[in-house]
Amino acid sequence: PHLSGDGKIAVVHNGIIENYVELRDFLISNGYKFISDTDTEVVSQLVSFYYAECGNALEAVFRVLRRIEGAYALGILCVDEPEHFIAARKDAPLLIGYGEGSNYIASDVTAIIKHTRDVSYMEDGEVAVISADKVQFYNAMEQTIEKEHHTIDWDVSAAEKGGYAHFMLKEIMEQPRALRSALAPRLRDGLVDFGAELGSALPERLGSVVITACGSAYYAGCVGKLAIERLCRVPVTAELASELRYSDPLIGEDTLVIALSQSGETADTLAAVRECRSRGAKVLAIVNAEGSSLTKLADAVLYTRAGPEIAVASTKGYTTQVAVLTALAAELARRLGRLTEPELRELAAGLYRLPDAVQKAIDLNPGLPELARRYCLGGALYYIGRGTDRAVALEAALKMKEISYRHAEAYAAGELKHGTIALVEEGTSVVALCCRTELLGKMISSIEEVKARGAKVLAVAPAGERRILAAADDVITVPRTGPLLDPVAEIVPLQLLAYYAARELGCDIDKPKNLAKSVTVE
Ligand code: G6P
Repeated sequence: PHLSGDGKIAVVHNGIIENYVELRDFLISNGYKFISDTDTEVVSQLVSFYYAECGNALEAVFRVLRRIEGAYALGILCVDEPEHFIAARKDAPLLIGYGEGSNYIASDVTAIIKHTRDVSYMEDGEVAVISADKVQFYNAMEQTIEKEHHTIDWDVSAAEKGGYAHFMLKEIMEQPRALRSALAPRLRDGLVDFGAELGSALPERLGSVVITACGSAYYAGCVGKLAIERLCRVPVTAELASELRYSDPLIGEDTLVIALSQSGETADTLAAVRECRSRGAKVLAIVNAEGSSLTKLADAVLYTRAGPEIAVASTKGYTTQVAVLTALAAELARRLGRLTEPELRELAAGLYRLPDAVQKAIDLNPGLPELARRYCLGGALYYIGRGTDRAVALEAALKMKEISYRHAEAYAAGELKHGTIALVEEGTSVVALCCRTELLGKMISSIEEVKARGAKVLAVAPAGERRILAAADDVITVPRTGPLLDPVAEIVPLQLLAYYAARELGCDIDKPKNLAKSVTVE
């Protein structure tokens, strides 16, 4: 916590106070001295300034909130009022947990799940005064309000490692179960059926789809783009949220915007959604975290039901996003009349089989720790693929970068010859994703090209694909699940490859340096 100069006020803060320089100057001109350059210290000093004026911590906080600009989840304690503390929120996640004889604030439910499952989600502009046995809420007009309680239905064990060395490994292994819970409610009588879940999110005439997200969620969107275009024959773009919001996007009332986010709190994604809504678009959110900010902005929400994801690098968050997006593509195609009933049934059958296929993808590859040692510890590392394989390559390379700090890049295999091939030399590792059967010949040519320049090639291919066994040095085998679903089973061994590489390199796998689970600032 940051203390005020007089030691009376302590503040914890998640977010950024944008006008802190101006406020700091104001306080300095009033005789305040600072011991850090942080925006948070400005909040503690400003509360202390107003507290000196009015002698009441809550009133002082209200005055501060009228002056600060930016994003914040704040916890504020005043030494003269030890029986309670104050919380305030704007554009940063904050929830209250109700315990027995104790109450809590947290940015994320996983932090307090050991103590309580009874929570209220704070909204922008709201303030709470929390004592051991009571929580009083105020709205932005400073009027007292009542808040709804929500019960978190996760098991406490969901926020524990359960015998695994890392949360990431546990979450990788949980994927069959996570996929079952993501898909089961959307499969009925052998067909994909979202029932009333899409609510009012679909435009009357579907002109185009824009998928927006950050990080792994964006890469899930890249897979989803291919699935929706293929099944629905409507134009789909996948846009990074941080780019979309400043790109003066071509979005209107006939655009369906699909926003993907595990946390539902990523600042860039929220900002992109606000931008799209201001242009009249409908927004469908695909989110894991219940009660998160994105769920409140969207016209309808599809929960991925993956359970809490605690490791910073997303695994089950990503695969459940891809699965829900693919099921959504089938649902939209059915509504648009673009697929026959047998085609729809075949797709649904693939979705039913998906959790087992993921389990197989894990079981078929006990040699991954050894492959990680041979391919991922030194030299350059490239991931190549075409179509959905290329989209998966992007996520696979991101996993490797995030947790092992190894430089890994993904390229469309066909682009190799336009530049990247110049970087391939003796000992370069190339991971070639080869699940697109119709493009196998092309992938084999790419493998031969990089091998001719000295690269060693680790291929990912469906079981029994002899031509790949002959062309590559080693093969990671994945079960066949069908062209649209392969990405889900295909990424799982590559998540494990990154995991074992990071473990070998002694990295802090669950909390990689410089990264955060929820990026709640721009
Ligand atoms: C951060 C995390 C990534 C994640 C991205 C998007 O950068 O480190 O793992 O993919 O945010 O997060 P979201 O919660 O919006 O899916």
